[in-house]
Amino acid sequence: MNASLLAAAPWWRPDTGDTLVIRGGQPLVGTYPISGAKNAVLPLMVSALLTPHLVTLHNVPANLDVAVLSSLLQRLGCEMHWSSTSAGLSVTISADRLEPRGIDGDLVARMRASVLLLGALLARCGEARLPLPGGDAIGRRAIDFHLAGLRAMGATVKLDGGVVQATAPAGLRGADIRLPLPSVGATENLLLAAVLADGTTTIRNAAREPEIADLAACLIAMGGKVSGLGTHELSIEGAQRLAGAVHAVLPDRIEFGTLACAAAITDGELCLPHGRVDLLGAAGASFNAMGVDFSETPDGVVARRARPGLSGIDITTGPYPGFATDLQAPVMALLATAAGASAVSETIFEQRFRHVDELVRMGASIAVRGRTALVRGVDRLQGAAVIGTDVRAAAALVIAGLGACGETRLGGLDHLDRGYDRLVRKLALCGADIVRLP
Ligand code: EPU
Repeated sequence: MNASLLAAAPWWRPDTGDTLVIRGGQPLVGTYPISGAKNAVLPLMVSALLTPHLVTLHNVPANLDVAVLSSLLQRLGCEMHWSSTSAGLSVTISADRLEPRGIDGDLVARMRASVLLLGALLARCGEARLPLPGGDAIGRRAIDFHLAGLRAMGATVKLDGGVVQATAPAGLRGADIRLPLPSVGATENLLLAAVLADGTTTIRNAAREPEIADLAACLIAMGGKVSGLGTHELSIEGAQRLAGAVHAVLPDRIEFGTLACAAAITDGELCLPHGRVDLLGAAGASFNAMGVDFSETPDGVVARRARPGLSGIDITTGPYPGFATDLQAPVMALLATAAGASAVSETIFEQRFRHVDELVRMGASIAVRGRTALVRGVDRLQGAAVIGTDVRAAAALVIAGLGACGETRLGGLDHLDRGYDRLVRKLALCGADIVRLP
């Protein structure tokens, strides 16, 4: 597996060591540059399949999901050319010759975003064959909205033995589609399919996450005709062909929020270049209510406590601009030591409280009642041996470990690698006592 990842993404350095050892209690002080967004770069890389011309992406985060997707794209016939400068990682993708049957089931099983290959391959090649995608175990994660939308655009879609077989030999046609929920992935998949369809597609109840507007901006740079960016209704006038484009990936709002939690729990001060408070949506006000302050400086946003202690608050996750589900776990780690009680309700995924037992192991007082976790702040967490079960659960446990007394040993590091660009190295540069051991 590593050999195929290295061939497609030569910058990928699988860190040896499956345990992260954190000795907590050090205030984090320093500069932690925020990378391009994981959830923006994946659909952007897939958009390169829509054209035989070159698509160049700058500000690409160096994480495992990007390496896995690179490997998938390479097996589909794409050529990937990487370059690295002080400004970050860039990739130029050529999908001049595509082999739509070349999808590797093992790689697809490793990441949810591989489902986006369906829309793009159908649009460009008229066929796609994709094993059902994997990803984090945080809920049911069906793809029925994706498949219904593609069918509405004229595709024949069959599910056979866990494999999706989709064909549209005469091409896709524009359709009027209403999503039952504003699904991020379904909006992206249908957008990717619609830019090369015959006629106009309307996606109603579309997701409004900033990563979708970022994808639409790149498609527009490729000559696609998309309007309604940032709203619940996207209108896409299909083009016959698309050109190449150069696009810089949007900064990662979830990495930004995660690091704000790290600064606050350690009572430190982090300068977060490229971090954008305006992308936090409702989470921005939640941070302020907890007692976390953001100030804009010429070097980047500085995150620190606004007052000596943090306050408990109530949170309900929701589609953007609601409180991001991806920040629920990291913020819960912060609330575990905030004064008073907090109620954290998760409305997007059914199983996104798997970090709770691990936080409790570290001395947190949290009880789950249905889809709400009731958190009673304690003075201090204690280091313990814990496991991260998804990207954000693992990040939450890093935050808890940074704020705890004593030693935390965290397993499940593949998850952390998937979503965060050199987290351990960047934290160590800000004074964290953190090391990865075999
Ligand atoms: N849903 C369906 N049917 C569908 C599609 C979605 O029932 O066809 C349901 C899901 O089961 C879920 C809800 O709708 O309960 C929302 O799912 P959505 O499709 O919006 O999520 P996603 O596209 O699978 C992306 C991010 C997630 C992030 C969610 C919500 C990527 C690669 N993943 O997932 O990111 O939590 O949107 O914002 O963009 C993460 O980064 O840790 C992560 C999990």
